[in-house]
Amino acid sequence: METFNRIAPDVCLGRSVKIFGFANLYGCTVGDESRIGCFVEIQKNASVGARCKISSHAFICEGVTIEDDVFIGHHVCFINDLFPRACRTDGTLQTDVDWKVIPILVKRRATIGSGAVILGGVTIGAGAIVGAGAVVTKSVAPRTVVAGNPARLLRPPTHSGRRGGTVTDRCTERWRGAQRGFLTACTRQLGRSKRRRHGWQ
Ligand SMILES: CC(C)(COP(=O)(O)OP(=O)(O)OC[C@H]1O[C@@H](n2cnc3c(N)ncnc32)[C@H](O)[C@@H]1OP(=O)(O)O)[C@@H](O)C(=O)NCCC(=O)NCCS
Repeated sequence: METFNRIAPDVCLGRSVKIFGFANLYGCTVGDESRIGCFVEIQKNASVGARCKISSHAFICEGVTIEDDVFIGHHVCFINDLFPRACRTDGTLQTDVDWKVIPILVKRRATIGSGAVILGGVTIGAGAIVGAGAVVTKSVAPRTVVAGNPARLLRPPTHSGRRGGTVTDRCTERWRGAQRGFLTACTRQLGRSKRRRHGWQ
């Protein structure tokens, strides 16, 4: 493990986790074989699954749950308080009791592009891709691609979440389409035969 990391004693690190320096981790969990880039902060009650890649300068705040095999780009920022205030109305500093964490869930194999901002209360579906610089205000369906501010659907679900799917996906889709066409034709033919048998046409 590199020096210049600040890993609090209450951090629960899995097997073979790599942390590349100047990271600040406290009260969080990181699963086996995950890689944490430079200048990443992971706060208390946040959880990162196994085999995740957290790129440099990402900010993972309290209330964020990241499942296994997730990619988090550079400078990704999670937001757990939609109306933050420094002070109470009487001018005294706010503390933990003055606000409520709004959780965020990033499901398995999702990818979040660099510089994306993910607002509290959102779920990023399994295998979904969030474009670079997106501001995600609503939950993202599994295996879709979203981008922009606010993030909008760019591509519908594919098996892999990649552009247009893999060759296997495209073959499977074509095969399913052909199968659907064949079944529709059979149903029509059966309908015709039945109508003829009963003398309805
Ligand atoms: C979102 C993303 C996956 C889309 O890739 P794609 O499906 O190949 O999309 P295309 O390049 O064909 O672009 C389709 C349209 O979306 C727009 N678009 C692409 N990425 C966008 C983004 N991040 N934000 C806003 N619009 C975007 C394109 O301008 C294009 O618009 P147009 O149809 O009006 O010309 C990709 O652009 C992206 O942002 N990937 C994240 C990369 C990243 O952050 N990596 C981190 C480690 S380096």
